[in-house]
Amino acid sequence: MKKILVTGALGQIGSELTEQLRSTYGEDNIIASDIRRPENPSGIFEEIDVTKEKEIYEISKKYKVDTIIHLAALLSAKAEAFPKVAWEINMGGLVNALEAAKQLDLKFFTPSSIGAFGPSTPKDNTPQDTLQRPTTMYGVNKVAGELLCDYYFSRFGVDTRGVRFPGLISYVTAPGGGTTDYAVEVYYEAIRKGTYTSYIAQGTHMDMMYMPDALNAIIQLMEADPDRLKHRNAFNITAMSAAPEHFAASICKQIPDFEMDYQVDPVRQGIAESWPDSINADAAKEEWGFEAAYDIDSMTIDMLKKIREKLKKNSA
Ligand SMILES: NC(=O)c1ccc[n+]([C@@H]2O[C@H](COP(=O)([O-])OP(=O)(O)OC[C@H]3O[C@@H](n4cnc5c(N)ncnc54)[C@H](O)[C@@H]3O)[C@@H](O)[C@H]2O)c1
Repeated sequence: MKKILVTGALGQIGSELTEQLRSTYGEDNIIASDIRRPENPSGIFEEIDVTKEKEIYEISKKYKVDTIIHLAALLSAKAEAFPKVAWEINMGGLVNALEAAKQLDLKFFTPSSIGAFGPSTPKDNTPQDTLQRPTTMYGVNKVAGELLCDYYFSRFGVDTRGVRFPGLISYVTAPGGGTTDYAVEVYYEAIRKGTYTSYIAQGTHMDMMYMPDALNAIIQLMEADPDRLKHRNAFNITAMSAAPEHFAASICKQIPDFEMDYQVDPVRQGIAESWPDSINADAAKEEWGFEAAYDIDSMTIDMLKKIREKLKKNSA
């Protein structure tokens, strides 16, 4: 990768990925884009609506990029609220981005999700290659997206790569309406109030990962030797399988008085129950050396520290 266009660059992943790419590949080599403009623009930014057929193509051509990192999407909880809009953004945007990559001979990354699995998928140690019959619009989009990326590789030779992200935890940009957002909110509320009411029920396990590990995984996979990749799109990756009470226990080690209670949201609980409890990431480890650096306790220490600094700065 030398010159990279990022779509959906103002989102939870994109906002941090853009900064990391700029420091690794050079400020002028990263073109951030989103459907909305940033409040405080820094670096090159272009407005792109991924559902408009030619916009990704035109900006890719203008800057002579060699890679597209396609992040623009509607996430799981929002996609359940607006299923048709989700189809248009998640599938329409993806095919437009893949077409640009095909026509301009670009490398291509887009994330799938643990949402690509469904209730009939084995729940524990979910294999890389397994049953995928999701019951949510987001899941339908993600499975179709994985297949579409495989198709553009095998049919047109586009160098497509991707991972199935678990729930991502970060302190920079608020998550955009996913099922695992509670695992970010809990840290803010722990600091602000010392309590948190979880919309996900006790005992509901989902895979999670701290954002620095997710960003490193994107770059590592994109720089991996293609000859080693047996799977291309949608490698399972994870750092931890955790339920709300595990976050509570980890936070209590740092804030002993912290308390969590529950007020379950049936929609997001239903989505969570349709996903695996823990996925197997062996293929990613074997084919491109994936390894997560953070476990729940090291993530908790860093999250609490960084959120305290952020809140202090914002109130100064
Ligand atoms: N964050 C997670 O926990 C997680 C987990 C698994 C997979 N993923 C996947 O990673 C990708 C990025 O997720 P995220 O968390 O950064 O999402 P996000 O919701 O935080 O950001 C998405 C961005 O896309 C932009 N966008 C929406 N519609 C657009 C359009 N028509 N044209 C251009 N931009 C548009 C939004 O303005 C937003 O900035 C998505 O494919 C998502 O499914 C995320």
